[in-house]
Amino acid sequence: MRNPKSFFIRTYGCQMNELDGDVMAGMLEKRGLQRTDSENDADLLLYNTCSVRDLAERKVMGKLGQLGRSKNRRSKIIGVTGCMANNKKNSLFKKIPHLDFVLGTNNIHQLGEILDDLLTKEEQQIKTDDRFSHELDYSLATRPDKYKAYVSIIRGCNKHCTYCIVPYTRGKEVSRPPESIVLECQQLVDQGYQEITLLGQNVNSYGKDTPETNCLFHDLLAKLDQINGLRRVRFMTSHPCDITPALMEAVRDLPSLCELIHFPMQAGSDRVLRKMHRIYTIGEYLEKIEQFRQIAPNVRLGTDIIVGFPTETDEDFEETYRLMEEIEYSLAFIFAYSPRKGTPATRWKDDIPEEVKQERLHRLLALQESINKKERESMLGETVEVLVEKRSRRDSQLLKGLTRCWKNVLFPGEDALLGTLQKVRLHSFTHSTFFAEKADENPMRLIG
Ligand code: 5AD
Ligand code: SF4
Repeated sequence: MRNPKSFFIRTYGCQMNELDGDVMAGMLEKRGLQRTDSENDADLLLYNTCSVRDLAERKVMGKLGQLGRSKNRRSKIIGVTGCMANNKKNSLFKKIPHLDFVLGTNNIHQLGEILDDLLTKEEQQIKTDDRFSHELDYSLATRPDKYKAYVSIIRGCNKHCTYCIVPYTRGKEVSRPPESIVLECQQLVDQGYQEITLLGQNVNSYGKDTPETNCLFHDLLAKLDQINGLRRVRFMTSHPCDITPALMEAVRDLPSLCELIHFPMQAGSDRVLRKMHRIYTIGEYLEKIEQFRQIAPNVRLGTDIIVGFPTETDEDFEETYRLMEEIEYSLAFIFAYSPRKGTPATRWKDDIPEEVKQERLHRLLALQESINKKERESMLGETVEVLVEKRSRRDSQLLKGLTRCWKNVLFPGEDALLGTLQKVRLHSFTHSTFFAEKADENPMRLIG
């Protein structure tokens, strides 16, 4: 095996995985490897995987199997990182004999070490700790955007939703020290970043495992709001039970905190929620939304929904449908249930036929589209704030901006506006994009 000179990395799954992938890319570049977009040319192939649904795992297994059949594989090093590494561990070597190493989500800092071991020992290597215990050098991350950045604040998850693999692939919650987060955000702002998305499986648990820091999630948000030049803060993702009145007040009071809050319902029937071990009832969930909208009237909500959970009846599903109609989320991610081996939900038969899951999924997608259309219509004529990110790929006369509530906006403008916040007036829209023109100062409303 020869020392790799170039690498290819592909990341699957969520934003936390994307950030982990960016950190690993940075670690490899620091080691002197050149990044390439070509799997064929790279000496080292890294697949940073996701286990959240079966499809995500099958994609990677298919890809790895294919590589085994290709002829130049002997000259390459192939590694699996991310959630599948923790989920499948050693069994990956059995299924994919030409795999060289498996590096878990809690072992990213050992990427260099595992490559060294591989080169000296010339045998397959694996490191998959259950718990995250070593701070990563996030400053190495090769960030794909110029003005928006992800910042990790807590890793792991202590909740036990019965469908979810994450507590097994990422381990228990471990909060990052507040000073380290503030420092990274300050450095990002100094480099020109305007918007930061705080990441964690359940960001609202931030600080509960480190009472000595005296810094819970809303305290952290208040600290970040003090950073001069940090114009926007978002976070992903939350568990409704941990959304506190203090957080609702933060949305109302902190100018940097964006108003779109992910508030995943998952299912609309109490019976299904109980089986999912979501630890709230729909009554409690709706009460919290009511309270949130009272405290912070500008808040917009996002959700995740799973259809076809074991035993979900037509009536259960209709409850979900009805609640989505009532709540009118601004953003919804809708998934068909996918049984994950080792999760508590596999004690029940996956008894909803695939066609029924797909039909329910498509009904909710259509409903959400109609809700979004109504929302877009209601926003026409409004002046909103956008972060100007880049030129439109389709029409180079237009700039692409992002509103505080995650809507894409195209408007004519000069390059000098890139990386700035601008006020634009929305005049029309297509399926997923608004069209606008630059607005005069002193607009009536900026949130959109
Ligand atoms: N099947 C389908 N969807 C799932 N999710 C998590 N686990 C599963 C599963 N086994 C969804 C949840 C979660 C989102 C990230 O993925 O809605 O909030
Ligand atoms: Fe996929 Fe969940 Fe792991 Fe993210 S944390 S990569 S969504 S399994």
